[in-house]
Amino acid sequence: MTRRSDVLVCVCNTVLESQIVACARKGARTLAEVAIACDAGTGCGSCRGAITTILEEEEARRRRGESIPEAILQLPLFASVDPRGSAGPIGGAGRPPKK
Ligand code: FES
Repeated sequence: MTRRSDVLVCVCNTVLESQIVACARKGARTLAEVAIACDAGTGCGSCRGAITTILEEEEARRRRGESIPEAILQLPLFASVDPRGSAGPIGGAGRPPKK
């Protein structure tokens, strides 16, 4: 996948930023895993800092997307919310039925 504003991160192996992001989203968490997935960082090594930054940004995105603040989970409205991220129906348990 090539984005319009894509950046060539690894010159040695012609790997774009979007390709490294894709590797991270498919499960690569380390430089070694990115290297296995798309060869980025396996040449001169000068891109490894940039790859690490991309991996850190993806990890931060993952954490932001998956975490639900503990205080919110204490509210009765969210009693049926799964802390892993999926929620039951809004106003589910505890709401009186409509008349
Ligand atoms: S620029 Fe990535 S290994 Fe050389």
